[in-house]
Amino acid sequence: MNNFSSRTLWRFGYSARLLNTNHFRTAASSTSFPAVWMLLAQYSGRIPGSFVVVQRNSFFTMPETVEDKADLELYSPPPKVRGMTQLSREAFKRTVVVPVLKVKKEIIGTLLKSLKHTVLQRPGLKRVIEDPEDENSRLLILDPHKIPEFSLGESEQEILKQFNIPPAVRKYDLELTYDNFKSEEILRAVLPEGQDVTSGFSRVGHIAHLNLRDHQLPYRHLIGQVIIDKNPGVTCVVNKTSIIDSTYRNFQMEVLAGESNLVTKVKENNIAYELDFSKVYWNPRLSTEHGRIVELLKPGDVLFDVFAGVGPFAIPAAKKKCSVFANDLNPESYNWLLHNCKLNKVYNKIKAFNMDGRDFLLGPVREELSKELPLQTEEQKTSFHIVMNLPALALEFLDVFRHLLVGEPCSTAVLPTVHCYGFSKHGDPAKDIQERAEASLGTSLDGRCSTYLVRNVAPNKEMMCISFQIPADVLYKRPCPAEEKPASKRLRTSKDFSEETLLS
Ligand SMILES: C[S@@+](CC[C@H](N)C(=O)[O-])C[C@H]1O[C@@H](n2cnc3c(N)ncnc32)[C@H](O)[C@@H]1O
Repeated sequence: MNNFSSRTLWRFGYSARLLNTNHFRTAASSTSFPAVWMLLAQYSGRIPGSFVVVQRNSFFTMPETVEDKADLELYSPPPKVRGMTQLSREAFKRTVVVPVLKVKKEIIGTLLKSLKHTVLQRPGLKRVIEDPEDENSRLLILDPHKIPEFSLGESEQEILKQFNIPPAVRKYDLELTYDNFKSEEILRAVLPEGQDVTSGFSRVGHIAHLNLRDHQLPYRHLIGQVIIDKNPGVTCVVNKTSIIDSTYRNFQMEVLAGESNLVTKVKENNIAYELDFSKVYWNPRLSTEHGRIVELLKPGDVLFDVFAGVGPFAIPAAKKKCSVFANDLNPESYNWLLHNCKLNKVYNKIKAFNMDGRDFLLGPVREELSKELPLQTEEQKTSFHIVMNLPALALEFLDVFRHLLVGEPCSTAVLPTVHCYGFSKHGDPAKDIQERAEASLGTSLDGRCSTYLVRNVAPNKEMMCISFQIPADVLYKRPCPAEEKPASKRLRTSKDFSEETLLS
């Protein structure tokens, strides 16, 4: 695989290991166009729209090297666009010679269906055009790649026979414009030869978000404009100008092209969110993970979202009729979280907080758990989930659970389940994450946790999720007495409480 494709796929979240085992090809590496048409187009100098009839097998085959060079021609803009930093769409015009079939206009629709795999497909290009010499006929543009040496294959000839059309293919000078090239083709023609052309981007509502490298920076405004032109719905293109290491997980960005409005609307798993992309964290690559966690919840469960962002766990959980406590330290995230609660009409199911995650766990979470856990019985119980999606740091917050409920009545009927995220560059990321969680909690999780590979973030960097029930000895600083039967609130007496306090 060449640099371009490996980088593009990497940017879209494929792991380097996957790339090695799967076979991906770029358009350029998988195409093989007959050389003659392209070279003829270049040198014939004929006016666009004129054509000559070509007899079957009347062309010679070009030597392989020339063919390789010419392979790229049909889909390449003219060489003069190389190095362009300000987009001039006019400069992309070029003429290529393509095979056409002259067909009576009454049957063109039916023939088009029968020959759909043989006609030329380019963005914005009509496959049927007027015949300049005969108003009762039309010209059907064929793909030179599918008609080597202008000679129709047997199956195409068979189809033409059925329609009573002579199998004579004509040559036609077709004018290609900027609209007929794909963004990848345009950028490959403009950027320095032999360097990576990355047209991959993340889409967040109307915003396309790039992460350009140094050699691409002189072309950044052109790249931005090409992305807007070629992607309907994208009206703003930004480039990341700092790595994502800020406390709030957002990053500085430069608007490369289009409007400078970074307040956008996105849809994830059928739920709408609004957010200011320049001020809060939003990653479209986490939608599956958000869905996976929400899928684990049942109506009536309680979710504590320690690093909630604008609500992609919290809001779907509330929609599922869970009670949600959602927190984020970034005041902007907190405000957009409130906004999204209103937008999705789940205001009454979510309590929102704007505090440090540690304070949130030691305050509202502790308070709620100490109030609710003693009420749980084997027969009637609620599940409590704590989501901690701050992969760079969250594992270091796990020590908060050590003795969080010390002194509280011990309940084994329900222990809260933690889903904590972490990055790992380790050869065995699952082991690494488990060991780091254990170090933070001060106990072994062997046989009582599961680890999940969320996504490949960069070559050799994985995002993992570890899920476990907080062991009773961690939470209460003692094992819950085996004989202790969880009691319902009504059955509990003050004696129960004083005995438990003594035990702790
Ligand atoms: C990786 S984002 C995750 C957001 C959201 N949960 C998601 O899945 O898209 C982490 C969030 O944690 C917030 N954050 C960072 N440090 C924090 C802290 N110490 N306490 C609470 N929130 C924090 C950031 O503002 C950011 O919104």
